[in-house]
Amino acid sequence: MKILSSSDNDLRRAARAIAEGKLVALPTETVYGLAADAGNRRAVAAVFAAKERPSFDPLIVHVPSVEEARKVADFSVPYAEALARRFWPGPLTLVLPKQDWVPGLITSDLPSVAVRCPAHELTRRVIEYAGVPVAAPSANPFGRISPTTAEHVAAGLGERIDYILDGGECRLGVESTVLDLSGDDPMVLRPGGLSVESLQECIPDLQLFDRSTSSPKAPGQLPSHYAPRKDLYLYRQGGLPAAIRASAKQRAVSALCFGKEEASSLIDEGLCVEVLDLSPEQDPVQAAANLFAHLHRLEADSSRRILAARLPEQGLGRAVNDRLYKASVNKGEA
Ligand code: TXA
Ligand code: MG
Repeated sequence: MKILSSSDNDLRRAARAIAEGKLVALPTETVYGLAADAGNRRAVAAVFAAKERPSFDPLIVHVPSVEEARKVADFSVPYAEALARRFWPGPLTLVLPKQDWVPGLITSDLPSVAVRCPAHELTRRVIEYAGVPVAAPSANPFGRISPTTAEHVAAGLGERIDYILDGGECRLGVESTVLDLSGDDPMVLRPGGLSVESLQECIPDLQLFDRSTSSPKAPGQLPSHYAPRKDLYLYRQGGLPAAIRASAKQRAVSALCFGKEEASSLIDEGLCVEVLDLSPEQDPVQAAANLFAHLHRLEADSSRRILAARLPEQGLGRAVNDRLYKASVNKGEA
């Protein structure tokens, strides 16, 4: 694996590699993606293999513009055109009826395809230079913490891929919001970098996928995902359960909290190996940007478990809670 810089030369090299069927990790405004030519079945299969991702979990196709997106998906369904015009480039993925040529390997044989136009200058240029739409899941081994730096990608996938384009830290830090427009009612399948509230301004009857009443439509909605290699317990702010407090006494615990008051009281108690604060000012946007980097760090420290506070369920707080819930072992309790 080779690291590429943001020089025009390197961007062209990344584009050539993609056109030749190689695997290139690219930065986006959300997380790093592992890119392959969407029309090259062998390259797409190599993406699944590198991530050890099951073939029933479909990929997002990335395009540099709405015009290119039309070659991938059918934009005649309600809201598609208007939402793409309003929110692209940006952290919104639209699930739409697919065009015939899109390989079933990408869509897990669904009649729909997920498509998005990322708001990252370098990556849009690479996709433009490559001249093909690019299939790109997050650039992490399946089910593990998503990467927000080139170092995360190298640590997770390393020699299994050909190149990493180093674009620094991802600005938003959580994956895109996935909105399904292919069914009867528009439905958010995954909360993400674009707030549900912004979508509700455009779609009054917007449905939110509810994991307590519905079965998953796509594996990104499976309850376990994005998990660190140790147990993560979710708790309501200010309400650390007593049992967990007891295990904290053995100094086996690290904490991921939200707000400087909680952080300083945890630090004062001296119970934790490490206390990381998602956002001292309790800003959910900052919390999202810090989420995966903090989880990567807590995964590597000497604690045996992680305690993580839920955020208020609004704005990007929803996306952060979704990822923490999927990473947690005490689902339904917090
Ligand atoms: O921000 C992002 O979306 C990042 C960057 C790299 O663009 N990508 C990303 O990809 O998060 P991935 O593969 O980790 O997540 C894609 C999600 C999965 O939950 C998958 O199940 C869902 O999109 N998805 C893809 N195609 C779908 C389809 N046809 N119908 C329903 N869900 C779909
Ligand atoms: Mg992922």
